[in-house]
Amino acid sequence: MVTTVEAASHAARFLEQPKRMLVDGAWVDSRHGRTLEVYDPALGEVIDHVPAGDAEDVDLAVAAARRAFEDSEWSRMTASDRGRIIWRVGDLILKHADELAEIESMDNGKPVSVARAADVPLAADLFHYMAGFATKIHGQTFPISVPYAPGAQFHAYTLKEPVGVVGQIVPWNFPLLMAAWKLGPALATGCTVVLKPAEQTPLSALRLAELMLEAGLPNGVLNVITGFGETAGAALAGHPGVDKVAFTGSTEVGKLIVKAAANDLKRVTIELGGKSPNVVFADADLETAIPGAANAIFFNHGQCCAAGSRLYIEQNVYDEVLAGVSDYAEKIKLGRGLDPDTEMGPLVSVEQLERVTGFLEAGEREGVRTVTGGKQVGEHGYFVAPTVLDGAGPGNRVFDEEIFGPVVTAIPFSDTAEVAAAANETIYGLAAGIWTTDLTKAHRLIPQLKAGTVWVNTYNIFDAALPFGGYKQSGWGREMGEEVIHEYTETKSVCIGL
Ligand code: NAI
Ligand code: MG
Repeated sequence: MVTTVEAASHAARFLEQPKRMLVDGAWVDSRHGRTLEVYDPALGEVIDHVPAGDAEDVDLAVAAARRAFEDSEWSRMTASDRGRIIWRVGDLILKHADELAEIESMDNGKPVSVARAADVPLAADLFHYMAGFATKIHGQTFPISVPYAPGAQFHAYTLKEPVGVVGQIVPWNFPLLMAAWKLGPALATGCTVVLKPAEQTPLSALRLAELMLEAGLPNGVLNVITGFGETAGAALAGHPGVDKVAFTGSTEVGKLIVKAAANDLKRVTIELGGKSPNVVFADADLETAIPGAANAIFFNHGQCCAAGSRLYIEQNVYDEVLAGVSDYAEKIKLGRGLDPDTEMGPLVSVEQLERVTGFLEAGEREGVRTVTGGKQVGEHGYFVAPTVLDGAGPGNRVFDEEIFGPVVTAIPFSDTAEVAAAANETIYGLAAGIWTTDLTKAHRLIPQLKAGTVWVNTYNIFDAALPFGGYKQSGWGREMGEEVIHEYTETKSVCIGL
C-alpha cells in the first residue's frame, strides 16, 4: 500500500515541511521543544509531528493577540479593508481546495470526496459570508424619554465593539470547518484570536493559518497553538488576558471551560454534545426518509454533534424502516479516506475506537439487539461497522449517552404526543429531525422540540446564514448567521446631553 504522504499528492509540499505554531506572525516551535504525533487513523501510523504547545506558548500567543487588538494595523483598519481580507481567505481556501481536502482526509480519516464537497467549500463560504458582515456591524439610535429630566434633550445611541482577545478551542470531527466557524465572526468583528486545534487533527488549521497570512492578515491577529487539551487548552481557557472563549467539543470539557472562565467572568460560547432524535412518521415518503435517516447518523462516521442517533419510527412502519436503514448500513463502503471510492472512513483515534466499541459491548451486556454491525472492522486503523441497534431504552448506555460513532438506536412510537415527550427526554438539545408529508403535523411538533435546529424532510443541512447551537447541555450561544456577531461584540450605550 502506498504511504499516506505518497497518496496525498496535492498536500505533498505541506506534509514535507516541518510544522510550527503561529505566534505574532512567526512560525515557532514550542518553548520546551516538545512535539506530539499526528496519526493517519486509517493505518494507525504516525504521519507527522506538530509542536506540543503549553502554558508558556499560550502566554506568548495571548500577548501577541493583545498587542494586535489594542494598537495595530488591525485595530486601525477600516471595516471594508478587514472584509476584503476575510473574503480573500475564502478565495484562497477554494484555490487550495484539493490540498485542504487531502489534509483533512488523512488527518481525520474522512473520505476525501466528502471533505472536497462539504468541509472545504463550507469553510470558504463561511469566510465569504462573514466578509460581508465586517461593514454591517453597527449600533442604533434611540429616542429616549427620561421621565426624571423633563425638558432635557439627549442624543442616545449604541456602538458595537469587538469583545477583544478570543481563545478558540476546536474539535477533530470537522477540523477546518470548526476553525472557520469560529475565525470568521471573530475577524469580521475586529477581534484577535488564539486558536487551539484538536491534538488529533492539527494540520488543516496550520495550513489555513498560512493562507490567512497570505490573504493579508496582520501579524498577531491570528495565533495558532497546537497542543493537548489538558495543557494548552486549559491554559487558554483560564488565561486572564483572554476576553472570551469559544469552544466546541464534549459537554464534560465544556463544563471545565465554564469553570475556568468563572475566575474573571470572561465571555463563553460552547457548542457541545448531542443525542438528537430523528422522527419518522408512517406518512413520510420512505424512499427519502430511509436514506435520510441513515445519513443522519452515518455521515462523518457518526462523529457529528448533531447526529440523528435516536431514531424514532412510527409503529406501523417500524419493521420496514429498521430493515431499510440496516440495508443501507450494510452497503456503505468502508475504507481509507484517501481512496476516492470510500464512503465511510475510520474513527479519528484509538481512543474513539475504544470508546465506541465500549458502548457496543455495554449494549450487548444489557441485552440490546444488534440488527447490523456492532463491531470493529479490519486489523489496521480504527474502523467500526455502521451499526443499527433495536430494543434500547432509558437506562441503557447506548440510548442515554452520546456515542459519537456510526451507531443508531431505533425506537418505535405510536403517536405525536408520545414521541414529542420521548424526544426531549435527554440532557441534550442540539438538533432534531422530522420526516412526514403532513406539514401541519410537522409545524405542531417543531415548537415542542427542545433543540437548537429542527430539520424537516432533510438532515445535516448547514449554512453560513443559519444559526447553529444548542438548548440545555448542548451549549450556550449560536454559531454562524447574524446571531454569532453578537457573541463577538460588546454593546456600548452612549448618551449625550444636548
Ligand atoms: P474534548 O472535548 O476533550 O476535545 C475537544 C477540544 O477540547 C480539543 O481541542 C481538546 O484539545 C480540547 N480540550 C480537552 N480538554 C480540555 C481542557 N481541560 N481545557 C481546554 N480544552 C480542552 O473531546 P474528546 O475527548 O476528543 O472526545 C470525547 C467526546 O466528546 C466524543 O466522544 C464526543 O462525544 C464529544 N465530542 C463532541 C464534539 C462536538 O462536535 N460537539 C467534538 C468532539 C468530541
Ligand atoms: Mg477529551
